[in-house]
Amino acid sequence: YRVAVLASGRGSNFSALLRAQQNASLPIELVAVLSDKPSAAVVERAREAGISTWAESAKGYASRADFDHALFSQLSAIQPDLIVCAGYMRIIGAEVLTPWTGRMINIHPSLLPKYPGLHTHRRALEAGDSEHGASVHFVTAELDGGPVIAQVRVPVLADDSEATLAARVLDREHPLLLATVAAMARGEIGLAKHAVEFKGQVL
Ligand code: GRF
Repeated sequence: YRVAVLASGRGSNFSALLRAQQNASLPIELVAVLSDKPSAAVVERAREAGISTWAESAKGYASRADFDHALFSQLSAIQPDLIVCAGYMRIIGAEVLTPWTGRMINIHPSLLPKYPGLHTHRRALEAGDSEHGASVHFVTAELDGGPVIAQVRVPVLADDSEATLAARVLDREHPLLLATVAAMARGEIGLAKHAVEFKGQVL
């Protein structure tokens, strides 16, 4: 089950996937890491692991669409079974996304549909939420708005800062992502008419 990762940052989710591949707890082959941030830690981590990387800044492209086309022509050549967005911070245009519908997932640090977009931990704290968490969802043209596949919940504690809450969520994001990718590799989860279809065990 060939997996490509799109990421812009430190790459802890990528590293969790890599460890799971290396210790064979997940039947995947990480085939590429693609990034819009050539200096991102995730790119360095992928190179060190001998995984093929494509990393270019969008600044070198005339338009968002041109960048999207460059990125997705790489993906068309690679033909992964699954694309995982793990901290990929650019909005992707609908045109290039459509052919990958149902084969592209994103991990987002909130209990969607709450808090799409940025600063999710701060927003959960400001709202006085007693619970927060992370979601894995199918990617559609709507930002963080595709059908949710699986979620994990964590408590918000009275003395939480943005940093402590983010750390508690991140710790649970990694197993959530691995469980979701495992279920997808087993063919247990699909997307039918924009509703998530669990073909097997519910996560
Ligand atoms: C994670 O919180 C993920 O949910 C969000 O961006 C962050 C990426 O972290 N989309 P990392 O780069 O995987 O460490």
